[in-house]
This record gives sequence, structure tokens and C-alpha cells, in this order.
Amino acid sequence: MRILITGSSGQIGTNLGLRLLERGDEVVGLDWRANTWTDRIPTVECNLYKGKPGVLPVEGKFDVVVHLAAHAKVFELVEHPERALENVDTAFRALEYARQHRTPFIFGSSREVYGDIHRHVTDESQADFVVAESPYSASKIAGEAFIYSYAECYDLPCLVFRFSNVYGRYDCDIERLERVIPLFIKRIAEGRPIVVYGREKVLDFTWVDDCADGMARAIDAIAAGKIKRETVNLACGQGATLMDLVNLISLALGKEPIARYEPSRAGEVTRYVADISKARQLLGYNPQTPLTAGIPRAIKWQREKGFLETRD
Ligand SMILES: NC(=O)c1ccc[n+]([C@@H]2O[C@H](COP(=O)([O-])OP(=O)(O)OC[C@H]3O[C@@H](n4cnc5c(N)ncnc54)[C@H](O)[C@@H]3O)[C@@H](O)[C@H]2O)c1
Repeated sequence: MRILITGSSGQIGTNLGLRLLERGDEVVGLDWRANTWTDRIPTVECNLYKGKPGVLPVEGKFDVVVHLAAHAKVFELVEHPERALENVDTAFRALEYARQHRTPFIFGSSREVYGDIHRHVTDESQADFVVAESPYSASKIAGEAFIYSYAECYDLPCLVFRFSNVYGRYDCDIERLERVIPLFIKRIAEGRPIVVYGREKVLDFTWVDDCADGMARAIDAIAAGKIKRETVNLACGQGATLMDLVNLISLALGKEPIARYEPSRAGEVTRYVADISKARQLLGYNPQTPLTAGIPRAIKWQREKGFLETRD
């Protein structure tokens, strides 16, 4: 198959792109920056929210478009809400490309669309779009709304994935995008202090290979015409507090954390555990890596890549 991935230089795009290449697919990436992790994903560098809607600098027919490009950090968009609008514009343009080329479309949405609803386990039907916790979640809600409208008006096969805290590989370019797991690993390993925003926060952390596996299954299903319009939680299906996370990292590193605790920040979801039964049933998705197994692997990867300066 021939797959177009936008945001292909990012964490999920890189993992997915490499996985598809490994199984023999052809992958074309679109991103406004080069891929700093690998040169195996052919990448066209362009800004997706510029230019004529529906026109992208790529040639030939694709079997599936996977749209992942976005400003992907919740708190960054609280500080710069105009970037949320760029996310919507980017999603619209990629979707318009898919419509004009009659190509099935997969969208990387987020558990943020549920808002901070304090339910223990969340299934796809519980998204209530009068709730928008942050400009980032508003951008994902708007993206989803466009997609549902395209599925309705143009009969475009569409699948929306709601991801949750994906971690494990190609995610520790901390200067570009601060993510809690690689940041805590790095700081605890180096004996430096961490700030925990919301010690009681319960989140669903997804090992990156589980995420890529679910996505590869979805690409096959939508390309084969088995999916017309679906919204699917793709996560581990288990919750962990930030304290659990800190303890697991400390244990795996054999280091005591130096932690300061602060309340959650504006716009942050404080409780989310995904109901993944739909992903299991629709895609045969079966996540293999709980946080207890994923944290040591993430540490190993960061260490092998030279991202950890261990101080004793
Ligand atoms: N990683 C997660 O835990 C997570 C959770 C929920 C949702 N998501 C969503 O999944 C998608 C992928 O996430 P990620 O973690 O790989 O993010 P990422 O930031 O690592 O990758 C996103 C990529 O999009 C590119 N990009 C952004 N705007 C662009 C534009 N206008 N034109 C061209 N390229 C542009 C960036 O350069 C970056 O490489 C995002 O849409 C994100 O919002 C991710």
C-alpha cells in the first residue's frame, strides 16, 4: 500500500512510518521540519496550513491519508491559542486533499475531546462537545467535526483515533516538545528536580508500539473498505497516577526522585482511562505493554540513544 502521513517527523508519525516501511508499504511523509530520528521516511517539507486547500506537494495516488500534523502540546496552546486555529486549518486542508482524491482518511485526535469529566472509564460515546477544556481540545473537536461532516456529505471513509499519552520511542526531543515521561526519566536519572502538576492525576499511558499496531490495523481495514466512519479510543485501557509514574521511573533507575508538587495547570485533563473495547472488537487491537513494562523499555531506549547523562 501507499500511505501519506502528515506530521511524519513527529513521535507517532516516525513510529508509524517505520512500522509501515518494515512491513513493505510505501510511505510518503509531509512535515514542516526534517525528520531528526531517521532518514528512512521520505519527507516533503511544507507548511500544511499554507497554500490552496486540497493541494499538497505530493504526486500519485495514496491508499490512505493519516493526518497527524498538529501543535500537539496542550499547555503550549493555552499560552498561544492562535496555534489551535492553525491545527484546525491544517486538518481541514489534509481532509480536503482526501476528499478531492477520494482517499480514506485517518485523523489523530485526542482524549482531550472528552474534557475533564472525572469519569473513571470513558467510551467513545461520552464526548460531549459543549465541554472544551483548552484551545487544544477545541482544535481536536473542530477537526473531528469537519471529518464527520465530510463522512456525511461526501461519503468519505474516515476514522478518528483518540490517542492518550503515547510514549516510548522518538519522543524525547524535550526542547521541542516537553512530554512528561521522557522529561521525568531524564531529570530523575540526572538527579535533577521535577515538578509534578497534579499528583492525583490519573491518566492512560500508551506504549508506542501498541499505538502503531492499532494504527496499522486501521490502515488495512479502512483501505479494504471495512471501515466507513468510526471513532476509536486507542490507549492502554489502564489508569496510573503521576505518583505511580514517578515511582516506576525511580524504581527502574534506582534513584530517589526530587519532586515538587503543584496543582494541575489550566486546560489539563486530570482523570482519563480509556474504554478500548471498540478498538479490540473493530481492529483486533490488543495492547501488550502496561506501564510497568513500558517504563523500563523507555528508559533503555533513552539510554541507548545517549539522552541520559546519569549522575551519581
Ligand atoms: N503523542 C501523544 O501522546 C498524543 C496524544 C493525543 C493526541 N495526539 C495527536 O497525535 C498527533 C501526533 O502526535 P505526536 O505526539 O506525534 O506529535 P509531534 O509534535 O511529535 O508531531 C507532530 C508533527 O506535526 C508537524 N507539524 C505541526 N504543524 C504542522 C504544519 N502546519 N505543517 C507541517 N507539519 C506540521 C510537527 O513538525 C511535528 O513533527 C498530533 O495531532 C497530536 O495532537 C498525540
